[in-house]
Amino acid sequence: MNINSNYKYGVYNKSSEKFVAGNYEEYKNDIKSSAFQFSLYSVYKPGNYYLGIYFPYRTSFVISKMKSMIAFSAILLIGLITSHIFVIYIILRQKKISEIKNDFLNNLTHEFKTPIATTSLAAEMLVKENINTMPLKVEKYANVILYENNRLQSQVEQILQIASFEKGTFRFKYDKVDLHQLINNVIVSFELIIEKSKAVINTNLDAKECKINTDIGHLTNVIYNLLDNAIKYSPKIPEVLIETKNTKKGIIISVKDKGIGIAKQYHKDVFKNLFRIPMGNIQEVRGFGLGLYYSKYVVESLGGTIGLHSEVGKGTTFEIFLPIKRIKKI
Ligand SMILES: Nc1ncnc2c1ncn2[C@@H]1O[C@H](COP(=O)(O)OP(=O)(O)OP(=O)(O)O)[C@@H](O)[C@H]1O
Ligand SMILES: [Mg+2]
Repeated sequence: MNINSNYKYGVYNKSSEKFVAGNYEEYKNDIKSSAFQFSLYSVYKPGNYYLGIYFPYRTSFVISKMKSMIAFSAILLIGLITSHIFVIYIILRQKKISEIKNDFLNNLTHEFKTPIATTSLAAEMLVKENINTMPLKVEKYANVILYENNRLQSQVEQILQIASFEKGTFRFKYDKVDLHQLINNVIVSFELIIEKSKAVINTNLDAKECKINTDIGHLTNVIYNLLDNAIKYSPKIPEVLIETKNTKKGIIISVKDKGIGIAKQYHKDVFKNLFRIPMGNIQEVRGFGLGLYYSKYVVESLGGTIGLHSEVGKGTTFEIFLPIKRIKKI
């Protein structure tokens, strides 16, 4: 091996410890204790002479020779640690996704079980022999079936729509729509539930310009979701106020309730897919956590915005802004 590191050497008598040759200077002790010792007995028999060699820069020489190896090992180590962290991150993310999917499936089963049981019970009543003599009951059971079926249909549709906008195949169909008529139609579709919950729905539809170029089906679903939430999350008798007003650039629709309210920390989260505020011991309200995620997507794709004001225990107002002219087509 070609070693070109500086070295000190000395020829010394081991018995008297005297140096007789070399460039030993202040390195006498180092040379004597160095690992490189050669007896000079074969050259000079009478004396007990030794040649000692000492490398003062041995450590830094070795390190400098290994520099590239150390750097390579460090890079390899950093690479290994990074890939480990990345793998752990992917595993945790997959675990979270699988937990969310499991929750969703559990929720789906639970959510669909009730309407299926209710409709089959109502249908069972309708096939009873003497039901023809009770027209009011026929109407009641038929309405139950109709209501539960519509709700199931809209939920399935919403799940499919979300899947389609996550795949990028979601499309709007634009038409001139009278927003006030759309709101009134949504309220009519809640007739049964309003009757059941004794909800009071008031409207202040003040917008002078209420005809907008929009997708009637999706906007209906959005208003439906907000009204559904306003009623669902009002444990006593729901009191809802729906208002519209024009601004310079468009129209504002607000849906205000006096329900349980939403704590500030959840104001952003409620628009996330499958997010539901943990209810703790309070009686669980049925739902998937899809409604607001879907609504935000639709409103923003229509060029609008959606936001909320809320105070826990006092109520919540959801506010949608839709532009009247500027519409982002997707
Ligand atoms: N008006 C409201 N008052 C209080 N909490 C609300 C209100 N609207 C929404 N939330 C909270 O935000 C969460 C998300 O609402 P979202 O409408 O997306 O889902 P959901 O109502 O749980 O289910 P669904 O998919 O059937 O709509 C709800 O679970 C609820 O905790
Ligand atoms: Mg909802």
